[in-house]
Amino acid sequence: MLPVSILLVVGCLIAPLHGVPPIWSQPEQVHVSYPGVHGSMVVTWTTFNETESVVEYNEWGGKLFTLVAKGNATTFVDGGSEKRRLFIHRVTLSGLKPGSAYVYHCGSEAGWSDIFYFTALNESLEWSPRFALFGDMGNENPQSLARLQKETQVGMYDVILHIGDFAYDMDEDNARIGDEFMRQVESIAAYVPYMTCPGNHEYRYNFSNYKNRFSMPGDTEGLWYSWDIGPAHIISFSTEVYFYPEFGKDLISKQYEWLKKDLEEASNPSKRQTRPWIITMGHRPMYCSNADKDDCTMFESIVRRSLEDLFYLYGVDLELWAHEHTYERLWPVYKYKVYNGSAEEPYVNPRAPVHIITGSAGCREKHDGFIPKPRDWSALRSTDYGYTRMQVLNSTHLYLEQVSDDQNGKVIDTMWLVKDRHATAAWV
Ligand SMILES: *[C@@H]1O[C@H](CO)[C@@H](O)[C@H](O)[C@H]1NC(C)=O
Ligand SMILES: *[C@@H]1O[C@H](CO)[C@@H](O)[C@H](O)[C@H]1NC(C)=O
Ligand SMILES: *[C@@H]1O[C@H](CO)[C@@H](O)[C@H](O)[C@H]1NC(C)=O
Ligand SMILES: *[C@@H]1O[C@H](CO)[C@@H](O)[C@H](O)[C@H]1NC(C)=O
Ligand SMILES: *[C@@H]1O[C@H](CO)[C@@H](O)[C@H](O)[C@H]1NC(C)=O
Ligand SMILES: *[C@@H]1O[C@H](CO)[C@@H](O)[C@H](O)[C@H]1NC(C)=O
Ligand SMILES: [Fe+2]
Repeated sequence: MLPVSILLVVGCLIAPLHGVPPIWSQPEQVHVSYPGVHGSMVVTWTTFNETESVVEYNEWGGKLFTLVAKGNATTFVDGGSEKRRLFIHRVTLSGLKPGSAYVYHCGSEAGWSDIFYFTALNESLEWSPRFALFGDMGNENPQSLARLQKETQVGMYDVILHIGDFAYDMDEDNARIGDEFMRQVESIAAYVPYMTCPGNHEYRYNFSNYKNRFSMPGDTEGLWYSWDIGPAHIISFSTEVYFYPEFGKDLISKQYEWLKKDLEEASNPSKRQTRPWIITMGHRPMYCSNADKDDCTMFESIVRRSLEDLFYLYGVDLELWAHEHTYERLWPVYKYKVYNGSAEEPYVNPRAPVHIITGSAGCREKHDGFIPKPRDWSALRSTDYGYTRMQVLNSTHLYLEQVSDDQNGKVIDTMWLVKDRHATAAWV
């Protein structure tokens, strides 16, 4: 008898195995997002042949698939040499009952996805939504993904925020890396709204993979938008407009004007009373104490120079960032000066916005390092792979904690941000 290994080798030589051709009309890369309209959810997926765009769904526990919603597909032609064609399907489910769980599948008569479920967002102002948030997660070495999958599937999160830098990079290998990434995150993104902002790794072909693959609120292809959840107003924007002028210098002022208008509306006293928390998310931080040459390490950081005053003026409470492959929590800071609430309780009625940098989900670029002696605005730093959990408890209390994946899920940092006053009244 020949050893099995030799038999296998011989077998291969005699009868090479051919892969079965893919079924091009089969849906894949399923994910959901919140379009910013009460009682709705968008389901997005990909096929490689043109098909109809149908979601069949029903409330959890009911008869499967008695409800039907239809949408349509856009053709996404990748910018690479093969000019691959993808059909990106978008279907908006509306009239959902807040807080109810739904079971769905998507596709068409030419092929259906697996069965997934999501919970329609609770629309109460008293609701306390729970988030997982991180940036900089790639295909290769996505170290936090397994933990996030399990925690998402057991229902620990209502929303996931991915603060830029996906896949490394979505456009590579004629956008097959993008396909692979979207398949990899299906295990979380098909269950809870996956809300995004663009990072530098998306810049290729004018951010075309980012703009085509995600479905965010508003009409800016997900570059900048805002939405409300529980007692919070969340603003997502592109720091990349400052770094890729070749795609349009006018994008800087367009986004700035939009931010100003959105902040103005969000801080209208009657609105701010109902949704007191204003939280921003953008990829590249204003501050950081990393040992690289990134913008945030510069005293006159472009992002800081461009946006710090605006965010301060409208009393933004919390600013979430990524890009640095580390975790860093800052004391309340404005123009490099620390504005603790008090020495004992710096985050109780802080007199400036609080910044969190969380870009250590895991990617092929591994970690970034820190400079040995940070400035006095830096409160805590970690180079462990991991991600952040956040709960907006109510109008006065917001909780954040940092999970270390390297330390098997250990919580390595916690903070309560407590504010009796919001808006600029808080700064005095
Ligand atoms: C389906 O897509 C494949 C790959 O793009 C293409 O070769 C094929 O012609 C398409 N078939 C139909 C019926 O459109
Ligand atoms: C796509 O579907 C949506 C929802 O049914 C509809 O509002 C929109 O006009 C459609 N777009 C196109 C290009 O058909
Ligand atoms: C929504 O959240 C509020 C506040 O926590 C709670 O009282 C209510 O029961 C929730 N609604 C649903 C449908 O779960
Ligand atoms: C890049 O994309 C933005 C937003 O979609 C668009 O406004 C701009 O004109 C594009 N720039 C180029 C050079 O195509
Ligand atoms: C802010 O508060 C922290 C924690 O109490 C303290 O270590 C730090 O020195 C304070 N910074 C300033 C400038 O007061
Ligand atoms: C918010 O929750 C905290 C912690 O449970 C509680 O101490 C506080 O009184 C609550 N604030 C309001 C306005 O309900
Ligand atoms: Fe980045």
